[in-house]
This record gives sequence, C-alpha cells and structure tokens, in this order.
Amino acid sequence: MRGVTITSDLFLSARYCCVLGYPVSHSRSPQIHRLFAEQFGLPLRYEKISVVPGTLSQAVDALRVAGCCGINVTVPLKEEAYRLAAASGAPQAAAAHAANTLWWTAEGVLRADNTDGTGLCRDLIENHQVVLHDRRILLLGAGGAAAGVIQPLLEAAPEQLIVSNRTLHRAQALSARFAAHGPIEWAAADTRFEHPFDLVINATSSSITRELPLVDKSAVGARTVCYDMFYAATETTFCAWGRDAGAAHCFDGLGMLIEQAAAAFLIWHGLRPDTVRVLAAMRLG
Ligand code: ATR
Repeated sequence: MRGVTITSDLFLSARYCCVLGYPVSHSRSPQIHRLFAEQFGLPLRYEKISVVPGTLSQAVDALRVAGCCGINVTVPLKEEAYRLAAASGAPQAAAAHAANTLWWTAEGVLRADNTDGTGLCRDLIENHQVVLHDRRILLLGAGGAAAGVIQPLLEAAPEQLIVSNRTLHRAQALSARFAAHGPIEWAAADTRFEHPFDLVINATSSSITRELPLVDKSAVGARTVCYDMFYAATETTFCAWGRDAGAAHCFDGLGMLIEQAAAAFLIWHGLRPDTVRVLAAMRLG
C-alpha cells in the first residue's frame, strides 16, 4: 500500500491537504475529504486554492514549505501537474499525461497519480455492479477527461473500447496513443452501430452546458448502461438521453468523484474511507 505510514503522530496534528484549480470555487473536494476524515477522527485541514495556469510549480513549492502533504489538481491544471512530476510519475499518470493527485515521498520527492480512471472503474464495478470484462464499451470524448480513464478501463479487459469524438482526429490520436494497452478503436461521432454497447460513457464536457454529444441511439439497447462522468443535482442531459434511448441504467459521475477522492485519501493518509456513506451524504446535498 502506498502512502504514509500510520503513526500516532498522524492523529496529533491536523494534516494539511488542498485542491488546486482555476477556477476552483465549485469544487466539492473539501466536503468529501472532510467526511472521509471524520470517519477516522483524523484532524484535517483541506483548502481550495485558485492557481493561475503556468504557476503550478511555484504553488506546489509553497505548499510543501507550508506543510501540505497532499494536493488534488483539477482542470485546467492536470497536464501541468503531470509534467511537474513527470520524472517520478506513477504509471497511470504517465499513460494519461494528466495527474489529479500529488504528494511527496518521505525524501521530499514529488509524486503524481491519476485516480480518475480507478475512481470510475470502482464506481462502475463496486457501486453499480457493472461488468467490464469482455464487454463492449463506447467512450464519448477525446479530451483530458477521456484520456484519464482509458488505461484503467483497458485494464478491466473489455472485449472492445471504442472512442468517439466530435473532432474525429482527436479520437484517432487517443486510440493510437493507447493501442499498446488493449483493444481500443475509434469511430466517427455520427456512426450507426450494428449492435448496442454494454456501456456508453460520456467523457465530454458537454453536460456542463447541458448539451448532448453527437451519438447515434443505435449505441444503446435494453441492456446498455449509460454513465455520465459529469454530475448535477438534477438528472444530467446525457442520462436523460440514455433513459429516452431505452438504456437499462443511467448513472451520473458523483460516485466517480467520491471514489477518485477516496483513492487520493488512501495515498496521502494510508486509510481507505467508506465511500458508500459519503455518497449517500453528498446526494442529500
Ligand atoms: P476535458 O479535460 O474536460 O476533457 P477538453 O480536453 O477540452 O476538456 O475536452 C473536452 C471534450 O468534450 C472534447 O472531446 C470535446 O470535443 P472536441 O474534441 O470536438 O472539442 C468534447 N465536447 C465538448 N463540448 C461538446 C459538445 N457540445 N458536443 C460534443 N462534444 C463536446
């Protein structure tokens, strides 16, 4: 297990962690990490800090001096975080070229990981009992969010993972980048599919503006699960589309958000929180 060794010191003084983004005011990470920490009686100070792109290195150095032990990084700083820790980056961050979790070794070496993909897979497999092994998956989007989840999805050994994107060449480039990791292909956004997929994942940023990515309803059948990596207080546009197309289940990305946070919490503190309880609390608001 990675992360700090648990000693009695851990519980004596508050651990200092934060999330960096630009903007960052919308982040729910402080609330999630506080709920995790409460489960262990762990004193935790967790702050949101706005960091202008291009200045991450200075911010990370200052946080190290201030006694910070763990940093979450959100858009648009994930690629910059990956580059910062590239020399010692963990395999997942290396494949995604983007990092969402930073910490330091006991020797003070900056380390990086990308827990988005493991968070997604854990939410699908553990929380929703979705089988990925030997199944056909359609991934919509070819930006940073899509790149961050491809390797863990391929590690689950699906029969096929197809990347589809509004801008075709980005889907082609992404599938080429991960070709050595498993059965990944690309498709144009207006493709009519012969058979529905077992799982359709929306990794585009379209839900933010309540738009729908272009995808043909032939992708969805009565046994299809639709998963929106975005989440909202009300049903997302993509989940509504999936329901209308006749999907068996539609899930939003709140569970993924909590699971990626739990993976970071484990790295930083050596403790695995109960995510089901936190998911229930977050759904209530
Ligand atoms: P992120 O880091 O959130 O993935 P990004 O790298 O800017 O952000 O990528 C955004 C993704 O959402 C892209 O795949 C983008 O498609 P394009 O490559 O064609 O730009 C996709 N996207 C955003 N809005 C969309 C919309 N309204 N319809 C379809 N795809 C959309």
